[in-house]
Amino acid sequence: TDLAHIRNFSIVAHIDHGKSTLADRLIQETGTVKDRDMKEQLLDSMDIERERGITIKANTVRIDYTADNGEQYVLNLIDTPGHVDFAYEVSRSMRAVEGSLLVVDSTQGVEAQTLANVYQAIDADHDIVPVLNKIDLPASDCDRVAEQIEDVIGIDASEAIQVSAKTGQGIHETLEAIVTHLPAPKGNLDAPLKAMLVDSWYDAYLGVIVLVRIMDGTLKKGMRVKFMSNNTLHHVDRVGVFRPEMEMVDSLGPGEIGFLTASIKQVRDTRVGDTITNDRNGAEIALDGFKPAQPVVFCGLFPVDSSEFEDLRDAIDKLALNDASFSFEMETSAALGFGFRCGFLGLLHLEVIRDRIEREYDIELITTAPSVIYHVFMKDGEMIELHNPADMPDPSKVDHIEEPRIKATILVPDEFLGDVLKLCQDRRGIQMDLTYAGSRAMVVYDLPLNEVVFDFYDRLKSVTKGYASFDYQMTGYTEDALVKMSVLVNDEPVDALSTMVHRDRAEMRGRAMCEKLKDLIPRHMFKIPIQAAIGGKVIARETLSALRKDVTAKCYGGDATRKRKLLDKQKAGKKKMRQFGKVDIPQEAFISALKMD
Ligand code: GTP
Repeated sequence: TDLAHIRNFSIVAHIDHGKSTLADRLIQETGTVKDRDMKEQLLDSMDIERERGITIKANTVRIDYTADNGEQYVLNLIDTPGHVDFAYEVSRSMRAVEGSLLVVDSTQGVEAQTLANVYQAIDADHDIVPVLNKIDLPASDCDRVAEQIEDVIGIDASEAIQVSAKTGQGIHETLEAIVTHLPAPKGNLDAPLKAMLVDSWYDAYLGVIVLVRIMDGTLKKGMRVKFMSNNTLHHVDRVGVFRPEMEMVDSLGPGEIGFLTASIKQVRDTRVGDTITNDRNGAEIALDGFKPAQPVVFCGLFPVDSSEFEDLRDAIDKLALNDASFSFEMETSAALGFGFRCGFLGLLHLEVIRDRIEREYDIELITTAPSVIYHVFMKDGEMIELHNPADMPDPSKVDHIEEPRIKATILVPDEFLGDVLKLCQDRRGIQMDLTYAGSRAMVVYDLPLNEVVFDFYDRLKSVTKGYASFDYQMTGYTEDALVKMSVLVNDEPVDALSTMVHRDRAEMRGRAMCEKLKDLIPRHMFKIPIQAAIGGKVIARETLSALRKDVTAKCYGGDATRKRKLLDKQKAGKKKMRQFGKVDIPQEAFISALKMD
């Protein structure tokens, strides 16, 4: 296809504003997929995505479109994830296209992720077409939302397209706007090949699939290519496009988006942002690379049934093959036995991986409290990156500790502002900015990441009845008075419950944790002390009183089936417990104990 007839674009939106529904409609309207093959949310291919309605992996589709001017166009859509955890995937997909549809729910208006994502589009020099979605709903207010887009984002919204991705109204206008308002890509057919590695993932049949955007030259089946970051050579065995199923083609030229396979075994061998060129007489200068995604949240994953450790290793190995942003290493815990310390991009990423292990591999897991990476500066000058509070070195040898901080942007209706400020204040936040856009406030806070990774988002949703939106960026490390708090159950330390806390809040946290654990741990035949301590000093204590009753005692005499049922129930309950010394701790205690409310 010649460059003038190609349009490459992505869709940016806040979560739930209708990005996937709109993508589906564009695909359907152009007949890319026959109606009877159309599933809801076609681009969200993984089950878990479908269930939660969250787009996780960036997906791509090539659409053929005959415009009103009679010309044939090829439209390449790269779908991007909307959640904060996956901001890096948004940014890399953006570099592969020239324009964006900015979708805003016309019943809601601009939200925190609308801003975060549209700024990425602006950074990538995109032309932007605003789309006001959900106009079929009575609460839709296009004038107000268009004005808000101009006020808050500062882009012209006078020609915003009014759409209902649900009924299909405005879809044709959207396709026309893509052709007329977005620029054609640029590129040189006669130059050496320069292809940008946009994404890669593992496929059981084809091996690693590499999503590429051709900048210059031609990518052909059968040619040998060089990955410039590490000078490795590969023989290209397939070249193709997504419609959205894979369709093989002989070659891809400048401006086109598609994929290649080259018998690559591991996703790890492909670096996102890399430049692919000819093996001989290739391009001299690589494209500007992207920053690799760094895990920021760490937690331990342990099998509930310790005999499933090898199965867990297998599951994690397989998942990691397909997800370069997920890291892991083996971990042993006195309390939980063998497991893995895993690194994630954020909490949603953590949840997704954990769910997939439980569901696809049928392994029940104990998840320990999420932690961030602390920089522990030792008196001898060494700096240790602490991923796990249990590994905290002897405090007498520690000079100081630094923790990661973030810049958080929260958009919230006026009436909840007070609660949001209080929440941020409680989490050691420093207010940076407070402005209004209509009846909504935009607050910017500097917050420690460790106060956010755990349940900040849940709390924010609950104090604002779901009306707040939130986005964050890491800003750097600063020193603070941080200490390791340990928890002792029946006088034995439970390493998996250790956390890093701010000294001023340790006592409050300790007390809350002991109270929680007292409710979470079932009573035993003996008294159980539950304590929180810093170093050797106990800062909070609760006692779980003893239980003497036999569960079967109350079903006197004959009813043997009922008795057996009760005993079975007890056994099943036991499986979900972990023994510490003489005490059984239920698996959910490891997460619930840390929730603050
Ligand atoms: P993520 O993929 O999770 O980022 O969300 P999204 O932005 O893709 O939103 P999605 O397409 O999943 O839509 C969110 C919800 O809004 C779904 O329940 C859709 O059915 C609904 N929805 C989308 N477009 C419209 C519309 O035009 N009108 C109405 N009434 N509902 C819509």
